[in-house]
Amino acid sequence: MRRVGPVRVAGSVAAGTVALLLGLAGCGLVPGSVTPVDEVEFTNELAIPPLAPSRVVDGARVFSLRAQEGTTEFLPGVETRTWGFDGPYLGPTLRAERGERVAVEVTNDLDEPTSVHWHGMHLPAAMDGGPHQEVEPGGTWRPTWRIDQPAATLWYHPHPHGATEKHVYRGLAGMFLLDDDASRAADLPQEYGVDDVPVVVQDKVLDDAGQLQLSDDGSEPGTLGGTVLANGTVGAYHEVTTEAVRLRLLNGSTARTYQLGFADREMDLVATDGGLLDAPVRLEQVRLAPGERAEVVVRMEPGETTRLHSFEADLGGVVVPFAMGGNDDFDVLELRATDRLAPSPEPAWTTSAHAADDALRESDATVTREFELDDRRINGRTMDMGRIDETATVDATEVWEVRSIVPMPHTFHVHDVQFRVLTVDGDPPPPELAGPKDTVYLEPNRTYRLLMRFEDYTDPDVPYMFHCHMLLHEDEGMMGQFVVVEPGQDAGTVPEHDGGAEHGDHSDADAGGSGPDVTPATDAHQGQH
Ligand code: C2O
Ligand code: CU
Repeated sequence: MRRVGPVRVAGSVAAGTVALLLGLAGCGLVPGSVTPVDEVEFTNELAIPPLAPSRVVDGARVFSLRAQEGTTEFLPGVETRTWGFDGPYLGPTLRAERGERVAVEVTNDLDEPTSVHWHGMHLPAAMDGGPHQEVEPGGTWRPTWRIDQPAATLWYHPHPHGATEKHVYRGLAGMFLLDDDASRAADLPQEYGVDDVPVVVQDKVLDDAGQLQLSDDGSEPGTLGGTVLANGTVGAYHEVTTEAVRLRLLNGSTARTYQLGFADREMDLVATDGGLLDAPVRLEQVRLAPGERAEVVVRMEPGETTRLHSFEADLGGVVVPFAMGGNDDFDVLELRATDRLAPSPEPAWTTSAHAADDALRESDATVTREFELDDRRINGRTMDMGRIDETATVDATEVWEVRSIVPMPHTFHVHDVQFRVLTVDGDPPPPELAGPKDTVYLEPNRTYRLLMRFEDYTDPDVPYMFHCHMLLHEDEGMMGQFVVVEPGQDAGTVPEHDGGAEHGDHSDADAGGSGPDVTPATDAHQGQH
C-alpha cells in the first residue's frame, strides 16, 4: 500500500492557542457556560422550507436558486437583515431521484461573489460549487450532473474563498434530498413537512438592534450564538399528527456542536450524512458538528408534548469545553402530538439494488494518506487556491487517516465522496458514525480512519476541497485541495486566484460556469426565455 504522509513542521501554532485557553480557564470563569443560549417560549410554528419547483427539460430536472438579501423577523417586531435563496432566509428544499440528471440555475443577486456547493454530492469537480466556481454579482452559474448515490439528506451552501462563514451565517443554506428504490419502499415516515420534517439547526448572535453579529474576538471555534433557530424559527413547535415523526437534522451552524435528543424518550437513528444505516439504531442522543446530518424517528403518544434538546455536548479532549459550547444545554424544537395520531410503521427497509456497487471494502484500499490538523493548518499548510495538495486516481479506494493534534474542536469534510469511518483510535465507530458520512467531528488526539473511493469523474485542473467545517477555521485557511485523475495522469495547474472578488473573469453573467461544457439540457433551458 502506498502511504502519503503529512509534511511535518517543527513547532506549532497550537501552543499559543493552548496557552490562551488555559489562561481563560484560569481566569475565574466558572465552568457553567460562556456561551449560554437564551430561554424562549416555544410558541412559533416551525417554518418548513418549501420544496423547490423544478421542470424537466430534455431529460434533466432543472431547478433555480437566487441568492438575495432580505429581512427576517426572528424576534417579534424586529427586522433582521438576512440573506436567503429565493426568499429572505435559508432556501427551498431541492429533491431528486437517483439516476436523474439535474441542473441548477444559480443566480447571484448579492453585491459580492458567492458560490453554491452541493455538500455530500458525488459530482464532477467543475460542478461542485467550491471556491473555484464563484458567481459574480449579477451572474448566473449552471451546473449539471447525474444523481448517482444512495438516498440521503444532503444540503447546499455557499463556499466563496475566505467568506463562507459570513454567507452561511447570514442565511444561505438549504437541503437537497435524494431518493432511491430503498428509501421509496422503506417503512419510514415520508410525507414532507408533515411526518418527514427537515430541521436546520443554527445559532445566532443578535445585537441590540436585532442584527446578526459574527464575533471577531478570537472565540474558538467561532461564533456561538445565544439565539437558536430551527429552520429560521426561534422557539419553534411542530404539530405531530402521526405516531412517529422523522426528523432530518442538519447542523447548519458555523461553529456550534449539538448533542441532540429527548430527555424523556429514545429515538431511532435511521440515516447519517450520506444515507440509510444497515438497520435502525436506538439511541438517546446524537452529536452533530457543523455540516453533519442525522435522520431520526421519534415516537409520540396522543396529546403529549416533548422537546428536542441539545444536551451538554461531549467534545472529546477539548481543553476548556465550557468556552466552546460544551456546557450549554437548551431546547431546540417542541413536538406537539394531536389527540389522535395516524399509525406509523416501525422503521425498516431493505437494501437498495445499488448496494453491492456502492459498497466500500477496506481490502480494496491501495493508498493511505495521513492528515494532521492543528489550529488552522492541515499537514502544516493553509489553503492555497493555486496548490493541489493531493492527487487521487479515479476508482481507487483509499484510507485517509485523520487526526487533530490540538485540544480544540475541528471537523473533517471531504467533497465528492461519502466515506466510512473504519475505526476511531483503533476501535469500531459509535453508531452515529457507522453509516455513510462526509463530515466527521474530530475528538482531539484520536485517529479517524476513513475509507473512500473516488469514482467516475476526472479533472486534473479543477480540484475538490477537504477542510474543517467550522467555517471560521475553513475561511482562515484550514482547507486543502485534491484532484481526481486518470491512472498515470498528473495533476494539472489551477490559477492562483481564479475565484473571488479580485478576478471576475470566469463567471460573468450568463457564462456557463467554469466547467468546460454547457450541457444540452442547460442550452434547451436557456432557449426557453
Ligand atoms: Cu459543506 Cu466544503 O462544505
Ligand atoms: Cu476546525
